[in-house]
Amino acid sequence: MAPSITQVLNVRTPAARRQLAKTSVDLLRNLLFVLFLLRYSRVALTHLYGYGPVASAKMGYAALRKSLYRIFLRLPGVRGKVQAEIKQSLDELEKKLVPSGPGITRYTSLPASGWGPEQVRAELEKLHEMKHTRWEDGRVSGAVYHGGKELQDLQMEAFGKFGVANPIHPDVFPGVRKMEAEVVAMVLGMFNAPADGAGVTTSGGTESIIMAVLSAREKARIERGVTKPELILPETAHTAFRKAASYFNITVHYVPCPAPSYKASLSHVSRLLNSNTILLVGSAPNFPHGIIDDIPGLSRLALRRNIPLHVDCCLGSFLVPFLERAGYDTELFDFRVKGVTSISCDTHKYGFAPKGNSTLLYRSAALRKYQYFISPDWSGGVYASPSMAGSRPGALIAGCWASMMSVGEAGYITSCHQIVGAAKKMAEGLRSRDTLRNDLYILGKPLVSVVAFSSDTLDIYNIADGMSSKGWHLNALQSPAAIHVAVTLPIVPVVDELLNDLEACVEEEREKQRQAIVEGKGKPLKKGDAAALYGVAGALPDKSIVEDLAAGFLDCLYKA
Ligand SMILES: *Cc1c(COP(=O)(O)O)cnc(C)c1O
Ligand SMILES: *[C@@H]1O[C@H](CO)[C@@H](O)[C@H](O)[C@H]1NC(C)=O
Ligand SMILES: *[C@@H]1O[C@H](CO)[C@@H](O)[C@H](O)[C@H]1NC(C)=O
Repeated sequence: MAPSITQVLNVRTPAARRQLAKTSVDLLRNLLFVLFLLRYSRVALTHLYGYGPVASAKMGYAALRKSLYRIFLRLPGVRGKVQAEIKQSLDELEKKLVPSGPGITRYTSLPASGWGPEQVRAELEKLHEMKHTRWEDGRVSGAVYHGGKELQDLQMEAFGKFGVANPIHPDVFPGVRKMEAEVVAMVLGMFNAPADGAGVTTSGGTESIIMAVLSAREKARIERGVTKPELILPETAHTAFRKAASYFNITVHYVPCPAPSYKASLSHVSRLLNSNTILLVGSAPNFPHGIIDDIPGLSRLALRRNIPLHVDCCLGSFLVPFLERAGYDTELFDFRVKGVTSISCDTHKYGFAPKGNSTLLYRSAALRKYQYFISPDWSGGVYASPSMAGSRPGALIAGCWASMMSVGEAGYITSCHQIVGAAKKMAEGLRSRDTLRNDLYILGKPLVSVVAFSSDTLDIYNIADGMSSKGWHLNALQSPAAIHVAVTLPIVPVVDELLNDLEACVEEEREKQRQAIVEGKGKPLKKGDAAALYGVAGALPDKSIVEDLAAGFLDCLYKA
């Protein structure tokens, strides 16, 4: 038996023994308290150091406001009102999204006996023709990147040949394995990967990012024993990183991307780095403003602390690697920058592959291994899979491979020229047309396909709603309030039309403002969807109402 503390000290009288026991208990308690204090003051100090005293105080204030507001929202009178408002908004949304009324048949159970092919075809045609925002006429920002009939037909042929294929059985579908490996090899080459570079294909940018975060977490856990992983994320980085952090319980530190450059602030990244950091992130370019972060700068920080750096080229995909050869300015962003350890590149964006395809590249095969899932003792057999999915569609791999082979390097350089050229034309229009120049300004200096703009004089969301009523689908952004256009091939021929409509919307908005001033702001202006949603979202300290609305929106998508 281990000697007790009293035996060690060889204390004889019971009173003295009791006294000593009490003292040591007290001592222990004080020690624990000091440890507790140390631990929390360490957390607090790291926070204070990472964000600085002003931002920390602001964050504390925001947290306090948020909790108070949450309590306010739960007050009996308020709660009912809020819920009623939310329900009304969702009902309106449902009317817009879910068609109903006479002439609409809803199929919510299997047909008792199967339809003939003609009937299926006729119904598919009806579904295809449903009233929608016309991407075919270049009215939609992002979404459809190519849309050309010839390429689509080729993809359909590839689908037809490989409809049953599944790369989980490489011996049964050797062609699919070969194509998948070749897609990765080609993309590695485009991003100047070293000889040991390696990659995987995934179902989209989000999965690529989730896997990059997972492998960084595993690397940090296995090599450095990190159990409280932290991710340093520019505010403008794609929200898929937030999703990954939420799935994998990783703490996120946000880095501001201030005007005028709108690039991630390196001094903030540097201060937020600590021994729990698993990954730094930069975008080339980011989704909101189309800005390429200072990748060489991030790389220096990553190398100094020996931490991986992921560059998100999901959107830049097949444009950024060809900027220079298409004759445009560019910045260094790929594996030529020493600290870059992984890159996500979406073949299904400007690679023009069918939807459901992306790649994730690593500087070395050793880094890739951290994302593998291997289950050696399952009763179903030894199981190994590279990414999230088990069975995977071989048809998509064939579609992706066929697209890349048919467009080729020259084709991608030409489309880069067309798309980036159109984005530059749009930016030029915003800067040179008087109506636009006086009220709108471009965020930062975009080098690729996205042009984001805002206004200090007009409500930019009203302008977005105005554009919607003219049949355009632009993207509304927040903090700061802005809208953007991600130029794709269908948009290239209609840039002038877009600028003309934008001018009309700006003029309308100016006129409304004049009226409101004349009428002494008498009646509130009727707000459109974007203005209503972002107007509310921006004003609230706590976003639970927005969360409820967004969850209701998702529910709505599954209403038959
Ligand atoms: C589109 C996009 C992603 C995510 O891609 P999905 O294919 O939609 O999952 C990631 N990063 C950026 C910058 C993007 O624009
Ligand atoms: C295409 O997408 C599927 C999943 O949707 C994925 O399994 C496959 O690896 C991808 N292939 C390529 C070439 O990107
Ligand atoms: C998430 O991580 C934190 C530490 O970073 C830990 O305290 C917490 O228990 C974890 N939560 C879950 C659900 O694992």
